[in-house]
Amino acid sequence: MASSYGLHSGYFHPTLRKWQGGAGTTIAPHNLMLPIFVVDDEDGIEPISSMPGVLRMGINTMAVFLEPLVAKGLEAVLLFSVTNILKDDTGEIGAKPSNPTVGAIKRIKRDYPDLLVAVDVCLCPYTISGHCGVLKDDGFIDNGRSLIQIVKIAKSFVLAGADVIAPSDMMDGRIKAIKDMLQTLGCMNRVSVMSYSVKFASAFYGPFREAAHSAPAFGDRKRYQLPLASRGLAMRAAKRDEVEGADMLMVKPGLAYLDIVREVKDRHPELPMAIYQVSGEYAMLHHGAAAGAFDLKAIVMETLTAMRRSGADIIITYFTPQLLDWLMEK
Ligand code: PBG
Ligand code: ZN
Repeated sequence: MASSYGLHSGYFHPTLRKWQGGAGTTIAPHNLMLPIFVVDDEDGIEPISSMPGVLRMGINTMAVFLEPLVAKGLEAVLLFSVTNILKDDTGEIGAKPSNPTVGAIKRIKRDYPDLLVAVDVCLCPYTISGHCGVLKDDGFIDNGRSLIQIVKIAKSFVLAGADVIAPSDMMDGRIKAIKDMLQTLGCMNRVSVMSYSVKFASAFYGPFREAAHSAPAFGDRKRYQLPLASRGLAMRAAKRDEVEGADMLMVKPGLAYLDIVREVKDRHPELPMAIYQVSGEYAMLHHGAAAGAFDLKAIVMETLTAMRRSGADIIITYFTPQLLDWLMEK
C-alpha cells in the first residue's frame, strides 16, 4: 500500500528545498563578520603562511582592501592588533593611541561609516608572556589586575569609535567591568558587548597564534579557556555573561562545537549567537580543497549552513571575502 508519508515529495524542487530550512538557515551578508589583522606599518601587507589567502594589513592597505567588499555587502568586521611596539607584563601598550587598532577604527569610521566595527579585546597581543591576562608570580592569572587592563583597552577603542567590544580573554567578570565602564562614559547605548563566552582551549587556534604573534611564551591557556569536554562550564559561562549584560554570546571554535551552539541558543534564545569559524578550521578547509578532497565553495557553504542550523546568527569567518562573491552567484 502506498504510504502517505513519503518525504521526497516535500523537497524535489529547489523552491521546496528552500522552505525546509526554516527562517534561521539561510546565509546573507549580514550573517557574516570578517576578522582583520591590523599591523603597525600603515602601508603594511603581509601574507600569513599558516593561513593562505589571509593578510595582515596596515590601515592604508586595509582601507583599499575593504572597498570592494563593502560594495558587495560586507556589514561587519572584527579587528585584531598585531603590534611590535615594546611589550610588558601588563600590556600597557594596548591602551595607547599607538595601538594599530585605534587607527583602524578611526579610518573605517571615516571611510565606511556604515560598517559595523567590532574589536577583539585581550591582553595577549600586548604582554611579554603572550598570555590573555596579567600573571602573578606563581603563574596563576591575576583576575583583578587583568580586568583593569582589559577595561582600559576597551575604553580606548570605544573613544576611537568602536561599535562592538568583543573580549576574548576569558577572565571572570569582564562583561560587567566593561559595561560599568560604558555606563560611566555615557556610552551604554552606542556600544555593544559581544562576549567570547564559550571559548574552548582548542588546538584549532594554531594558525591564528602565528598570524597574530600571540602564542603564549610558556605554558598553555587551560586555566582560563574551557576544557574541551565541558558542557557544564560552557553553559555556566554563557549564563554568567548574559547575567552580566552581554549583548551577544559566542561559541568558539565552530564546527567541532555545534552541540554547544545549539544548547546555548536554546537556553539563551533572546540573545544573538555568534560562532567563530577559527583559523584552524579555515586552514583545514582551505588545504582539504587545495588537495582535491572537496570543492571549497561547497564545503564552506555546508559548514556555514550547519552553523546556522545549530542556532548561530552571526558567523565570524576568514572566508567572508569569497562568501560575498559566492552569495551573489546563487
Ligand atoms: C586570543 C584569541 C585567539 C583567537 C581569537 N582571540 C587565540 C587564542 O585564544 O589562543 C583565535 C582565533 C582563530 O583561531 O581564528 N585571545
Ligand atoms: Zn588573548
